[in-house]
Amino acid sequence: MVKKKEEKKEVIKLKDVFKYYQMGDVTVKAVDGIDIAINQGDFVAIMGPSGSGKSTGMNLIGSLDVPTKGHIFLDTEDISELTESELAQVRGKKIGFIFQNFNLIPNLTVKENVMLPMMFQGINIYERGAIAEDLLKKVDLDDRADHYPNQISGGQMQRVAIARALANDPEVILADEPTGNLDTKTGIKVMEFLQKLNEEGKTIIMVTHEPELAEEYADIVYWLRDGKVEKITKKKNGFKIEQEEKKLKKRKKKNPEEKNKDKKKSEKKVKK
Ligand SMILES: Nc1ncnc2c1ncn2[C@@H]1O[C@H](COP(=O)(O)OP(=O)(O)O)[C@@H](O)[C@H]1O
Ligand SMILES: [Mg+2]
Repeated sequence: MVKKKEEKKEVIKLKDVFKYYQMGDVTVKAVDGIDIAINQGDFVAIMGPSGSGKSTGMNLIGSLDVPTKGHIFLDTEDISELTESELAQVRGKKIGFIFQNFNLIPNLTVKENVMLPMMFQGINIYERGAIAEDLLKKVDLDDRADHYPNQISGGQMQRVAIARALANDPEVILADEPTGNLDTKTGIKVMEFLQKLNEEGKTIIMVTHEPELAEEYADIVYWLRDGKVEKITKKKNGFKIEQEEKKLKKRKKKNPEEKNKDKKKSEKKVKK
């Protein structure tokens, strides 16, 4: 896996950002002073238990929401200076969103769902159709283009959502618990697609409450607790290999047959 690590550009930065909700007499400090800097090509995970501020943080990172206090920069541009419609335009072009519950539009076909974000960027219908078909090929769903969301499986719906997130060829993909509603096997397939996109150069920011997922796929993990960044961990050289070894050991423990197979193989080698 070769990643472009040189000449890193900062794509999103949160500087001393707060998001408070006033609920009667109580102030809920959903995000309580965080600094996050995301470079182009990074695979970042935002990790934390339920209620730690992940989704609120994600909405701020994706400029779907405005902070109570602090600054958010998209490509070094302070978004608090933009009007709502300018912001929507910038967001639609720069960021693709993936949600836990897929958020597909039920009365549009798979292909129409993928075409939709391009409409707001003024791309003509023929081009939209052609791009959508290409993207559906990329996620192995070109044979489902004319299906409706309720005619495909959860894993397929999330792959449609990935294709839709790619529609405007954004620099950044934001995914909030993208495997939260999927079984383990289907979830792995979705994660592998995200990993592939990252290898192709996309910046991926994923929210998850599962530490295994964060540590396996992300280069940088922000650990949130009570709206604050508790720690930041970075993947070091070789860390990935260590993870792979651990995974293999786990698999062997779970599956004694595989262990025997390996044993036989090594016996063969010895005989030779
Ligand atoms: N719109 C809102 N109004 C009031 N409180 C909110 C709102 N959104 C989130 N919260 C509160 O902020 C805290 C963080 O929520 P959230 O960001 O959804 O956490 P997570 O995604 O980590 O589970 C929680 O205590 C939640 O109840
Ligand atoms: Mg959440």
